[in-house]
Order: sequence, then structure tokens, then C-alpha cells
Amino acid sequence: HIRACLFDLDGVLVDTAKYHYLAWKRLSQELGFDFTEQDNERLKGVSRMASLDILLSIGKLTLEDAKKQELAARKNDWYVESISNMDHTEILPGALEFLQACRDNGLKTALGSASKNAMTILNNTGLTPYFDAIIDGTRTSSAKPDPEVFTLGAQELGVPAEHCVVFEDAEAGVEAARRAGMSCIGIGSAATLGQADFVIASLADMTVERLSELEA
Ligand code: G6P
Ligand code: MG
Repeated sequence: HIRACLFDLDGVLVDTAKYHYLAWKRLSQELGFDFTEQDNERLKGVSRMASLDILLSIGKLTLEDAKKQELAARKNDWYVESISNMDHTEILPGALEFLQACRDNGLKTALGSASKNAMTILNNTGLTPYFDAIIDGTRTSSAKPDPEVFTLGAQELGVPAEHCVVFEDAEAGVEAARRAGMSCIGIGSAATLGQADFVIASLADMTVERLSELEA
């Protein structure tokens, strides 16, 4: 039975994909090529430097490491500026209610995000107190689909993997959950998240009762 819920941040609890997109698009324009919303799908759940590599491949550019560090830092400055104005109104539908329900039912909760900006987002939206453990991009050495972020979260909660479920909107995140030996509920479309146990449109469709569907 499920004793702990682990949550991805971007696209599951808050909609920051649009801010990442605008910052990457601005960078691509400075570099002289276009970057579409469809291209942006490929960056979901992917770490900052790996995202830059994908962006540069779309623009057919090969750059030196120092230049890449500089571009990633510039993108991050723009991104940090946009999330500095975030507040609780940007929490996705159902997220707060489900986190509270986890609390009320004695389930442990952890954050498992690739983002190095996760703490800023949690604090600005008021989500920080809802978590028993917070693992973000500053605490991991391998990015999703490596299971590290979720394995570390479960360890910190003191709950074995088989009693954990991960909520993820990115393919790489679903794979990470699988490799960690955890159940996984996809947030978004079944077409891309087929490896999840089941897929829901948003956390507004989630209840503590539905966790029992994982045991069937
Ligand atoms: C999340 C997002 C990605 C982002 C990554 C790193 O996984 O889905 O789009 O690239 O975090 O975020 P950061 O804030 O560290 O650049
Ligand atoms: Mg995500």
C-alpha cells in the first residue's frame, strides 16, 4: 500500500513551463533561430545544461563549454526574474487540495525536482510547508531519467520504494520513477506518459482513495 507521495514540481504543482519557454525562446532569438512551443516539450523535466544542448541542436549550433555556461546563466537570469513574481495563484488546479489530503491521511510527501530554482518557487507560492522532504537540482548529481532524485526523497522520508508513488508530467520523470521501483501517476496525456500506472489530466482528478487503484 502507498505510504508516500513524491511530486515533480514544474507541470505538476505549478505551471512554470511557460516561463522556461519564454526564456529559452528569447535566447534562441538572440542566437538567430526560432524555438517553438512544440520544441519546448522536449525540455520538460530535462536539466538546464541538457536543455541548452537540445536547444543548440535545434539551431544547429556547436559552442565551446565556456560559451554554453554563459548562455545557460543568461537564460537562468531571465527565468529567475519571471518566477520572482510568482504567487499562490499559480499553483495548478487540485494541487493544494491533494497535498492537504495527503497530510490529513497520514501520507508522507516529498518534492522531487530537477530544478535548482525549486526553493524560490515553493516559497513564493507558499507550498514549502506541505513537504516532509524536498529534493531539488541542488541536491542531485544525476538528472532524470536517473532515479536519484526520487530514491533520495524516499530515503529521507524513510519509506521503501514499493510504498511510494510519483506524480510526473514528463516522460523522463516517469522513467525515473520506474527505475526507482516506484508506482507512477502521469499528469497530462496518456500518449506520452504510457509507462505510468495511469494518467490523469491534473491533480484536480486525484483523491487519496484513488491510490488504491495502484494495488489492483
Ligand atoms: C524542471 C523543468 C525543466 C528545467 C529543469 C531545470 O525539470 O521541467 O524544464 O530545465 O527543471 O530547472 P532549472 O530551474 O534548474 O534551470
Ligand atoms: Mg515536470
